[in-house]
Amino acid sequence: MTAALVDDDPPLLVAEGLTKWYGQRLGCRDVSFALYQGEVLAVVGESGSGKSTLLQLLSAQLAPDAGRICYRMRDGVTRDLATLSEAERRFLFRTDWGYVHQDSRLGLRMTVSAGANVGERLMAVGWRHYGRIRASAASWLDRVEIDPDRIDETPGGYSGGMRQRLQIARNLVTDPRLVFMDEPTGGLDVSVQARVLDLLRGIVAELGLAAVIVTHDLAVARLLAHRILVMKGGAVIETGLTDQVLDDPQAPYTQLLVSSILPP
Ligand SMILES: Nc1ncnc2c1ncn2[C@@H]1O[C@H](COP(=O)(O)OP(=O)(O)O)[C@@H](O)[C@H]1O
Ligand SMILES: [Mg+2]
Repeated sequence: MTAALVDDDPPLLVAEGLTKWYGQRLGCRDVSFALYQGEVLAVVGESGSGKSTLLQLLSAQLAPDAGRICYRMRDGVTRDLATLSEAERRFLFRTDWGYVHQDSRLGLRMTVSAGANVGERLMAVGWRHYGRIRASAASWLDRVEIDPDRIDETPGGYSGGMRQRLQIARNLVTDPRLVFMDEPTGGLDVSVQARVLDLLRGIVAELGLAAVIVTHDLAVARLLAHRILVMKGGAVIETGLTDQVLDDPQAPYTQLLVSSILPP
């Protein structure tokens, strides 16, 4: 993808010197970057390079041992995530953020209907009118190419691709500004991946979402991201515009990644 929809506003999210240890084991070290509204950042690297750790830090699910994350709230005030109360953090998760898991079962409630999976998020932000909630859920199902006639089925009967599209609908229905995705197409058949990616790309662009997408698949980064951060051994070893990094990688490790010599 080409230029990001960067505006004159300050960044939406700024990470500074993020470091996380699991005991003696390094999760990630000294990671810094800024993310602007409407910008999609892909975090790439082999397994164990620290991608998921970084995503959990950014989404305040893990606390860093060093460094900090500042986020510009809807009211325009930039806050250090470490200073938010638990209630404020939960509110961010319900409204302004989405989190798409690789395993859709972690991101969906498998025992309630597809409509309730989407509608629940609306109720969490204060929607009360049943008819409007259902209509909005049906329209989002349609938008992610799930037949609205299947609104009352539980996700258990859905295919993997449909479940992932339902998870996307559930996350985006509240009109978040920032979405975190951990290997969003990682668990899907190759034939299904392309459709989900295409859909994601359309929706992200249309809504002007900012996103941090963790993937070991450079094709995913190429398709969705404006910028790329390459991680190795917990550290960022290269960063730049997607086309720059993929077409003219500077670090030897990135060159190996791009030439697909490394295993995923
Ligand atoms: N809960 C944990 N306990 C101990 N070590 C962990 C834990 N989670 C991740 N790690 C270690 O941190 C490093 C980075 O892991 P991770 O962030 O999961 O990388 P990736 O998502 O790129 O595969 C790895 O060495 C991994 O073994
Ligand atoms: Mg991971």
